[in-house]
Amino acid sequence: MTTLITNIRELLQVRETSIAKVSGAEMAILPTIKNAFLVIKDDLIADFGSMDQVPKIHPDKTIDATGKIVLPSWCDSHTHIVYAGNREQEFVDRINGLTYEEIANRGGGILNSARKLNETSESELYDQSKFRLEEVMRLGTGAVEIKSGYGLTVEGELKMLRVIQRLAQNYPITIKATFLGAHAFPSEFKENHQGYIDLIINEMLPAIAKEKLADFIDVFCETGYFTVAETQEIIKAGISFGLKPKIHVNQFNSIGGIQVGVREEALSVDHLEVMTVNDIESLKNTTTMPVALPSCSYFLSIPYAPAREMIAAGLPLALATDYNPGSTPSGNMNFVVATACIKMKMTPEEAINAATINGAYAMGISETHGSITIGKKANLIITKPIPSYYQLPYAFGSNLIDTVFIEGKIVA
Ligand code: NIG
Ligand code: FE
Repeated sequence: MTTLITNIRELLQVRETSIAKVSGAEMAILPTIKNAFLVIKDDLIADFGSMDQVPKIHPDKTIDATGKIVLPSWCDSHTHIVYAGNREQEFVDRINGLTYEEIANRGGGILNSARKLNETSESELYDQSKFRLEEVMRLGTGAVEIKSGYGLTVEGELKMLRVIQRLAQNYPITIKATFLGAHAFPSEFKENHQGYIDLIINEMLPAIAKEKLADFIDVFCETGYFTVAETQEIIKAGISFGLKPKIHVNQFNSIGGIQVGVREEALSVDHLEVMTVNDIESLKNTTTMPVALPSCSYFLSIPYAPAREMIAAGLPLALATDYNPGSTPSGNMNFVVATACIKMKMTPEEAINAATINGAYAMGISETHGSITIGKKANLIITKPIPSYYQLPYAFGSNLIDTVFIEGKIVA
């Protein structure tokens, strides 16, 4: 099946040869072709270029994209979209003055979601989660990472990861699975942290590895959650089972999580709302991608990751949603890109690079996703007619998406 898209006002994120990521000053450069064509063959990008070189082919289908922008679909490298129920009562509690930490200390927060998840059957959990996955696909996301971490029991964690695996089997969107058993200490292990860590290492990890249910390992390294030493122990165990680390760090406090991530060659360190000069220094010349989650900052009214400082230091930066029931009940990458521009002072070029190629890097898939490159997956967003790509962050509340392709098929 061949599809030819013609008369594209501007084709974004065009890379002749595949690149892994963009860093520092390169982030301000978004290569584009004006008045462009693009050819999809089956699930891949087969050709693209300027309209004066449009090939003489006989496609099965032609789409006239006059006035429209085409870009690679979003790569959302950090989500928790498999969860049960919601936490709207906590949302109202926060409006009435409680903080996220106070709610967690009263047994709410992650433990509240864990209680709900363990009471929900696997098929019910699948049905609730698939609606969120279908929603983010319609919003232009073509690759997504999904974490466990609301089970906190052997059965609960396996249930979550099996649901992620079934979603990956049943939908065209690329899905990477992350084991986040170390998301919080269950109440029965409040006074026995090592007991829970042993459960993660001796029972959860072997079972997950046996069923090949995860690609990555994650830990919530934060005051009141997992210490730096505990994070290190769990990450090392994950690595011994073949899982690459991606860590939650520096959401509320800078306690050394970034340095563990760098030491263990984490694929990414995520959140970064609270960053010291030393934290930024530690990330220089490493293979670890910093990932900012601006929708979380927006929803919890906490600081935004200091994007300008990180980019000025020459670091790369990726953007993701963090879609989860507690801190970010939204999986809208369009909103993430706009909020990064509005609140973090990223330019549209930087934000689009961060949400495509750098997001792909943070999932280990930048060879196949994240740019318009021949041979990469035909994962594309065609916008409605708009004057320029500046509209994407500028018109932040509008839905500017006309068509979404995932692996060459129209999904919205
Ligand atoms: O990335 N910070 C840790 N985990 C999630 C939120 C978890 C929750 O509140 O359910 C996050 O924000
Ligand atoms: Fe998260």
